[in-house]
Amino acid sequence: MDIRVYGDYREMSRAAAQIVADQLRAKPDSVLGLATGSTPEGMYAELVRMYREGQVDFSQAHSFNLDEYVGLSPDDPRSYNVYMWKNLFRHVNFDPKRVHIPSGVGDDLAGQCLRYERMIEEAGGIDLQVLGIGRNGHIGFNEPGSPFDSRTRVVDLAEQTVSVNMEKTEAISLPTQAVSMGIGTILESRRIMLLANGVEKAEIVAKALRGPVTWMVPASALQVHGDVVVLLDKPAASRLETRM
Ligand code: PGA
Repeated sequence: MDIRVYGDYREMSRAAAQIVADQLRAKPDSVLGLATGSTPEGMYAELVRMYREGQVDFSQAHSFNLDEYVGLSPDDPRSYNVYMWKNLFRHVNFDPKRVHIPSGVGDDLAGQCLRYERMIEEAGGIDLQVLGIGRNGHIGFNEPGSPFDSRTRVVDLAEQTVSVNMEKTEAISLPTQAVSMGIGTILESRRIMLLANGVEKAEIVAKALRGPVTWMVPASALQVHGDVVVLLDKPAASRLETRM
């Protein structure tokens, strides 16, 4: 695992954007796996800046987001669909037809999950998957206990996840279920970039990267993948030297 530590969130975000831009330069029609949450906001802002300066081109890229809340319509301000358009898609030259976000509404969520998996496959698989990490170690919305061979499916959210996300987004209520790519789906990505910042992530980062590989720490699955780059700010890296 390639672990890189940066002085602050801004530097980490810049480096993350650079990795995405390099991926698109090497392969303009790359399939990107994208994440939401507060962690990648700086990376998206930097990608928008780079796009405006002509340093990155999304015109041939494909994207597949990790997850979406069950029951929120795509125009709900709490949805990850709105998040993605607000933070990235609206500001850059992505072809809307190549942008994919799981739908949390519909009569047949299980069927939609299967189709999502098929679309990823038909696009050629994910070249670069961006991930954040939850304080409980979740990646996507794969909460502790998620099997490492899980696929896109409806999941129950941990109480802590709902309360942390309500606090962060100032939402009065949030669904308790989501559609999430599985850990198996994530592990099939050719390259994975995990981002974490802030001291509140320090302990789980150390557990995920240095602790035992276990379903109870979903991000520990990344230890078995051959091409993972981890970008941390100093506070998030502060427990890494501790023996787990
Ligand atoms: P955050 O969420 O980026 O808002 O900390 C990360 C996650 O829960 O995966």
